[in-house]
Amino acid sequence: MKIVVIGGTGLIGSKLVNKLREHGHEAVAASPNTGVNTITGEGLAEALKGASVMVDVSNSPDWDDAAVMKFFETSTRNLLGSEATAGVKHHVALSVVGTDRMSESGYMRAKIAQEKLIKESSIPYTIVHATQFFEFLKGLADISMVGDKVHLPPVFFQPMAADDVATALARIAAGKPVNGIVEIGGPEQFRVDELVRRRLASLKDPREVVPDPNARYGGARVSEKTLLPGNNARLGETRFEAWLTQPAAQIPTAHAQATGAAAGPKGPAAQKKAS
Ligand SMILES: NC(=O)c1ccc[n+]([C@@H]2O[C@H](COP(=O)([O-])OP(=O)(O)OC[C@H]3O[C@@H](n4cnc5c(N)ncnc54)[C@H](OP(=O)(O)O)[C@@H]3O)[C@@H](O)[C@H]2O)c1
Repeated sequence: MKIVVIGGTGLIGSKLVNKLREHGHEAVAASPNTGVNTITGEGLAEALKGASVMVDVSNSPDWDDAAVMKFFETSTRNLLGSEATAGVKHHVALSVVGTDRMSESGYMRAKIAQEKLIKESSIPYTIVHATQFFEFLKGLADISMVGDKVHLPPVFFQPMAADDVATALARIAAGKPVNGIVEIGGPEQFRVDELVRRRLASLKDPREVVPDPNARYGGARVSEKTLLPGNNARLGETRFEAWLTQPAAQIPTAHAQATGAAAGPKGPAAQKKAS
């Protein structure tokens, strides 16, 4: 099958393209770096020509509330229009577990808008809700600074390895559209503040992590279970301690851009610089 991966050069996208190719698919990594831009439309029709499936794992380069909303709305509208013309049979999009419970966050509002456009379109679809990526834990610390300390709500989450996200997406892309949401998550639950503390310790990052019930998660108030997937979630295999021993975990900024939570007080450019 020809499968176009929008955002195919990103953290998840590059892993997904490799896995799809290993499974014998013709996988196309589509992003501005490969000449495909879902905002301007450049290269989109050409990339989607003859494709059966499109997987959208792109992310907005700018995280201000208005900018991220504009990105996901424009990009998704352009994608759905071009897919209809090209006869694409399955639109797969990656979103975040609990998105609809975190509408206080501008980033999550943009993901909700993206999902609404997909649900209202005529293209069969599968929306994949993933929990936070292990690769994102340092980025989460970076956007949760109060003074020189990391303030995080002591709530539960069930994070997963980016590699397991890509494995699940590869399976879903090759399967039938569910016209609904599939949740994926990691094999273990942790408290957010505790795991970020462990991640920073593994990087010898001296920042103190403060459990703060008033702290927001990427701009949204969260309760104990807001970030947890439901009982039917498909779980990845990689446990946190095993992931820590992998080469990718030795890189502090494996993924400095903190996707999966809303932008903090700083924009992504500042976050990138900060990490
Ligand atoms: N981090 C988390 O914990 C988490 C959890 C659940 C879900 N998610 C979701 O996962 C998705 C992917 O995240 P990621 O960390 O893999 O992203 P990423 O590494 O930041 O990659 C973003 C990708 O989007 C592409 N892109 C940017 N602008 C584009 C445009 N105009 N047209 C086409 N492609 C464009 C980039 O292309 P270039 O390289 O060419 O710039 C890049 O390939 C996001 O939608 C996020 O909401 C994240």
